[in-house]
Amino acid sequence: MTLSAERDAAPDEADDGVWLACIECGETFAPFSAIRYRCDDCDGLLEARYADPPTFDAFEGDGVWRYSAALPFEEGVTLPEGSTPLHEVPRLEDEVGVDRLRVKHEGMNPTGSFKDRGMTVGVRVAQELGVDRLACASTGNTSAALAAYGARAGLETLVLLPAGKVAAGKVAQASLHDARILEVDGNFDACLDIVQDLAGRGEAYLLNSLNPFRLEGQKTIGLEILEEFRDDEGRFPDRIVLPVGNAGNTAALYKCFRELVQAGAMAEDEVPKLTGVQAKGAAPMVEAVENGWADTERWDEVETRATAIRIGNPVNAPKALPGIRETGGTAVAVSDEAITDAQRALAGEGVGVEPASAASVAGLRKLREEGVVGADEAVVCLTTGHLLKDPDAAAEAGGDPEPVPNDTDAVLAHLSE
Ligand code: F0G
Repeated sequence: MTLSAERDAAPDEADDGVWLACIECGETFAPFSAIRYRCDDCDGLLEARYADPPTFDAFEGDGVWRYSAALPFEEGVTLPEGSTPLHEVPRLEDEVGVDRLRVKHEGMNPTGSFKDRGMTVGVRVAQELGVDRLACASTGNTSAALAAYGARAGLETLVLLPAGKVAAGKVAQASLHDARILEVDGNFDACLDIVQDLAGRGEAYLLNSLNPFRLEGQKTIGLEILEEFRDDEGRFPDRIVLPVGNAGNTAALYKCFRELVQAGAMAEDEVPKLTGVQAKGAAPMVEAVENGWADTERWDEVETRATAIRIGNPVNAPKALPGIRETGGTAVAVSDEAITDAQRALAGEGVGVEPASAASVAGLRKLREEGVVGADEAVVCLTTGHLLKDPDAAAEAGGDPEPVPNDTDAVLAHLSE
């Protein structure tokens, strides 16, 4: 599939105008008659396709389900999610030196990350399929979202986390929403291998972003950005900069743009440049973009303070890499220090984000300095998770509390020191 590809006619397997198609060989499947995460024939990634991708005038209401015309169902298991703020950040805009800079703060979703958009759709599909146990591997946010949406739906949830590498807020969420939490002696990629095996053996329904329906929900980030930005500015943004881990969001945004182009709602040359940012210690997507590869090579050793994107084997790379290339975007790696600096800069505008989210701003700064991003560009940075997700990282990036005596004069004396 490319931005300019004609849309397919609905195959016989389509259910209500929706079907699954393999992105490698084109084989099509009925969407809800059997559980399937990859192509039966060639093991390629699957994506949802629609007989009639909608234009903007089909959307009404708020949140993710405003976009039901672009989703497989009319409504889902909702908390509710979406309708997140698109912040102006004037000081940062000046400092970076672009024409317009906006920050889409996905940390304002119900469980504090963009994963809620995917889960409202994914858990609805799980209900349709009649499964009773949901599972995911996670660097933290997916597990928090799955636990909450699973609880809402009354379904059992199982989450596999890399031991010692998940931020405190995320484990607390999964725990209180009553997921069964398994801490694996390995990294996220090892957790995902195991959970794929479990799903393959019929032990649980997999709700990682390998599940094509998760990405349908996440597509709505793109729809919201385009609608909001155009209302304010009369045009679409030139570029969207986002942190990349498993590359699910990058794939979802690309799919969003492709469907709009197919529907005639957007011209190909209006599509924002998809620009991915990874931490230097976990940058297989940057390596693949720089080398012109069709897929990533697995990094066995990964490390970064931005634990949400501590990922060495991005499963959605074959969907995301064409999106980065075709939109004229790029991918860039940033240091942990640059991520913390960007986290402070966002906090200085009142926008509190977790480290992985700040990678978007760190990446934009770097690309602007290198001249890859032009001064005339209108840019949206995606901040994917809330500051409170990782309280330890926030406390480390911020100033220390100062102990004072229990006495007003002593407090005043301390303040004038
Ligand atoms: N930002 C945050 C805060 C995340 O939690 C993630 C992914 C990403 C960015 C990267 O998004 O995978 O779509 O490229 N977190 C997953 C998890 C892996 O388990 O919570 P992606």
